[in-house]
Amino acid sequence: MSYLALSTFLALAAAPLGVVAQSATSSSFTPLASKHFSYPSGIPYQADPDDGVRGTQQGYNLCNSTTEGPNSLCQTAFINHADDWCVWAPPIPNSTIGDTEGEEVAWCTKKGRGTRIIPAGAITGLQFMKTPGYLQIVGFIDQTQINIAADDGGGELDPHGADLRGNPLGGLVYSNGFPSNGGNNNSFQQVIEWHNFMGSDQFCFKVCDPAGSNAANLCQHIFDRIGVAYNCPNAAQNGTFESCEGDNQDPPGVYTTNGQVVTYSQPPESLGPITSLPYTPKIPASSNCVQFASSALFTDLASTTTSGSGSATATGSGAGATSTGASASRSGSSSSSAATGSSSNNGAATMCISILSTIGGVLAAVAFLS
Ligand SMILES: *[C@@H]1O[C@H](CO)[C@@H](O)[C@H](O)[C@H]1NC(C)=O
Ligand SMILES: *[C@@H]1O[C@H](CO)[C@@H](O)[C@H](O)[C@H]1NC(C)=O
Ligand SMILES: *[C@@H]1O[C@H](CO)[C@@H](O)[C@H](O)[C@H]1NC(C)=O
Ligand SMILES: *[C@@H]1O[C@H](CO)[C@@H](O)[C@H](O)[C@H]1NC(C)=O
Repeated sequence: MSYLALSTFLALAAAPLGVVAQSATSSSFTPLASKHFSYPSGIPYQADPDDGVRGTQQGYNLCNSTTEGPNSLCQTAFINHADDWCVWAPPIPNSTIGDTEGEEVAWCTKKGRGTRIIPAGAITGLQFMKTPGYLQIVGFIDQTQINIAADDGGGELDPHGADLRGNPLGGLVYSNGFPSNGGNNNSFQQVIEWHNFMGSDQFCFKVCDPAGSNAANLCQHIFDRIGVAYNCPNAAQNGTFESCEGDNQDPPGVYTTNGQVVTYSQPPESLGPITSLPYTPKIPASSNCVQFASSALFTDLASTTTSGSGSATATGSGAGATSTGASASRSGSSSSSAATGSSSNNGAATMCISILSTIGGVLAAVAFLS
């Protein structure tokens, strides 16, 4: 697939050259990923009350009806079901993820948890995936409606970062959707390992089951420069809203070549843009995909719009459309970042069209940067 390789090359070539290194960590902090709070009774005002090199937590974790709405600085997020999830995005319009990674706030599809609510119509496609090891939302979104600058290639948010305080600082994530929770929607488990890629009008938010044996690897946070397609290989399609079950993906960065299981080593940003990758990620098998009208999924969004496909049609699935995209932003650093993404459909004809639009998108991104 030389065309695909070309688009990957171009996308990655748009990664930033410059990066401001994060200062060394203060070992006196408890890493965010080691802090455990029960929901809702154990939630503190702020999970990260420290004042460090990156300053203080900008928002709060104790969120309620008085904080809910467009000015919310709630930093407690949820990934529950296809209709009930959040992403991290900036508090102020026209921000890049790279510039605001420490400050992102929760933008959600459901009212009632003290967060901002994603504007109706912003989400144009969605795949919710439930696997033995994780829940994952991959979506298409008009990112300007959640305060991300139009051309921002974005980056990765995760609970680690160079100083272990997380991005956003103090950001907490909960779910009621893991098998280990027994299907009880009123009981929330804290998610210890998660990653959220935002940018290029796409996103992936994966939460790994804390009861799973491989959570840290499946929600690996060190491949922050290679984007959605490599960290969340998926068959999501713009214009389709669906909920699926599937197999676990190979952990990000892990691939098999000539019968050997190999782990990719992401080069440091000091070596410049990543211009090639030695593998194409494998999209895990999926089944029981059920499609929805977006209006059926998103009853709480600010105003009603309808898009997407007909309601409740079961489809088989497997490989098909793929979402490609790359994003760059070392977590814990204040690098700006750029990349691009696109959705490509099954079949050679649509693939070519999609690739052309990818190249156009990348060139536009390069022009924007230079
Ligand atoms: C609601 O949340 C705000 C912000 O965290 C907090 O200051 C306030 O005490 C909370 N109110 C209640 C009743 O918990
Ligand atoms: C967003 O910010 C950029 C860079 O500061 C600026 O050029 C652009 O006009 C802004 N766009 C909007 C919609 O405010
Ligand atoms: C939990 O909520 C989801 C939607 O968010 C719903 O589809 C499911 O039926 C609920 N489960 C129970 C046991 O009520
Ligand atoms: C998704 O589809 C919408 C509506 O057609 C379009 O405006 C948007 O640019 C598409 N997003 C991506 C990332 O291709």
